Amino acid sequence: MTPVDPTELGAWGRLRDRADGFSPDLRAWFDDDPGRAERFSFEAADLFVDLSKNLLDAALLDDLLEIAAAAGVAERREAMFAGEHVNVTEDRAVLHTALRLPVTASLEVDGQDVVADVHEVLGRVYEFARSVRSGEWTGVTGRPIATVVNIGIGGSDLGPVMAYEALRPHADGPACRFISNIDPTDAATTLEGLDPETTLFIVSSKTFGTLETLTNARLCRSWLLDGLASSDAGEAVRKHFVAVSTALDKVEDFGIDPANAFGFWDWVGGRYSIDSAIGTSLVVAIGPDRFADFLAGMHAMDEHFRTAPAERNVPLLMGLLNVWYTDLLDAQTHAVLPYSQLLHRFPAYLQQLTMESNGKGVRWDGSAVTTDTGEVFWGEPGTNGQHAFYQLIHQGTRLIPADFIAFAEPAYPLTDGDQDVHELFLANFFAQTQALAFGQDHENPARVFTGNRPTTSIMAPALTPSVLGQLIALYEHITFTQGAVWGIDSFDQWGVELGKKLAQELGSAVAGDAETLAAQDSSTRSLIEYYRSRR
Ligand code: F6P
Repeated sequence: MTPVDPTELGAWGRLRDRADGFSPDLRAWFDDDPGRAERFSFEAADLFVDLSKNLLDAALLDDLLEIAAAAGVAERREAMFAGEHVNVTEDRAVLHTALRLPVTASLEVDGQDVVADVHEVLGRVYEFARSVRSGEWTGVTGRPIATVVNIGIGGSDLGPVMAYEALRPHADGPACRFISNIDPTDAATTLEGLDPETTLFIVSSKTFGTLETLTNARLCRSWLLDGLASSDAGEAVRKHFVAVSTALDKVEDFGIDPANAFGFWDWVGGRYSIDSAIGTSLVVAIGPDRFADFLAGMHAMDEHFRTAPAERNVPLLMGLLNVWYTDLLDAQTHAVLPYSQLLHRFPAYLQQLTMESNGKGVRWDGSAVTTDTGEVFWGEPGTNGQHAFYQLIHQGTRLIPADFIAFAEPAYPLTDGDQDVHELFLANFFAQTQALAFGQDHENPARVFTGNRPTTSIMAPALTPSVLGQLIALYEHITFTQGAVWGIDSFDQWGVELGKKLAQELGSAVAGDAETLAAQDSSTRSLIEYYRSRR
């Protein structure tokens, strides 16, 4: 299907006209319309989402919805959920949503019942996790597992580590650690203090061909075998290594027992894979029941996205607002600011989700995009960010739309004397969006806050496994919506390939091969020479 060029639509023209000399006045908009907060606040599963402090009004939303309709966002959404090959550049279905379908559902794709396949693997992951958690699974010397180390990178790391950190108060299994970077410092420091007898490694790699992950897996295997010098090496690897991959044939070559390998499918993108067997470390940490709640939360958001009317469809509306800011108001970045220390890795997780998905310059038919795409996502938990970079959001010259996320229930209800510290924390959350929206007049120009800086507030009762699942799926569908409007394939990632290829080619130059070194550009050559002269 040829993508629609959104910039040719009448609604886009109207938005462009509005954007020219746009002078929003949130103070007046709220004063003139006492129902504004209610009108622009929505519920999606357990999330309460207040869009009213965004630079929007009813006419603007109508135009955005008209663009979504003309661009075929709903049809593309249906196609994705049905398992059509919407990842056209790789000719693949995109079915992370099938990973969280209940066991009673059915979905046939390319002649295969994917729900049955998903639940078969899920059942094996759950059984494995139960045996590790109960102590039934032991290391080669008979001791139960105390620490699980996930070895993976990108989607095979960011989802597991983010979710583990977020759900720590719900974790009652062995501790988890994560190794991702090929910088040997990562493996060295992560393994520090661990006992090989009680450590289990999960090698997580969709392709089982990623340089970083396989190198780290080999480093960990050596560390294990050195530490268990008296044990049979093959048996030690079988008892201390399991794998998660779509390439199960490669797993056995590493020495991992195929019975301890958990598969998934090419229709699960790496950055969409936390809900597949890639989440095994999380299942071990929080247990199968809570992981099932996590999946149910994702499914609840999927259902909202699939069935809620467009004018109340939260991921759709948030995605369209991002298009408005990025393409018509020239915002280049988008901040995500969780008022929850537990979500400290959430912005990093979202960077892969959004930027690997929508950082594209051609559309799905190969033609050039007609608008800017993929804004830079970034953020840090409040209140740390307040004392670091909020200055620029409040008074800088750039427009930075920001999502604020907070929970009514604290994970740790601590008091400082009579003061409920969570209330102090939430007061900051409310204060920041108020200051950004309404600003402050002052006779001293340095102390003027212009206001009219757009924010979305997302609240939920508590950061439970289900709510975390809802948040992840919310951002997946926001990302989808933006990609669909722009006409891009949000599910490939060719942009990471060239660097990988060049790194392989440069390996021999770094190791001293004169001919390869001589063939490099002068800058790269001199950098490698600098390195070689100091080693
Ligand atoms: O290089 C990017 C990427 O392909 C990501 O999309 C992916 O999540 C990551 O590498 C890891 O890949 P794998 O799971 O195959 O090791």
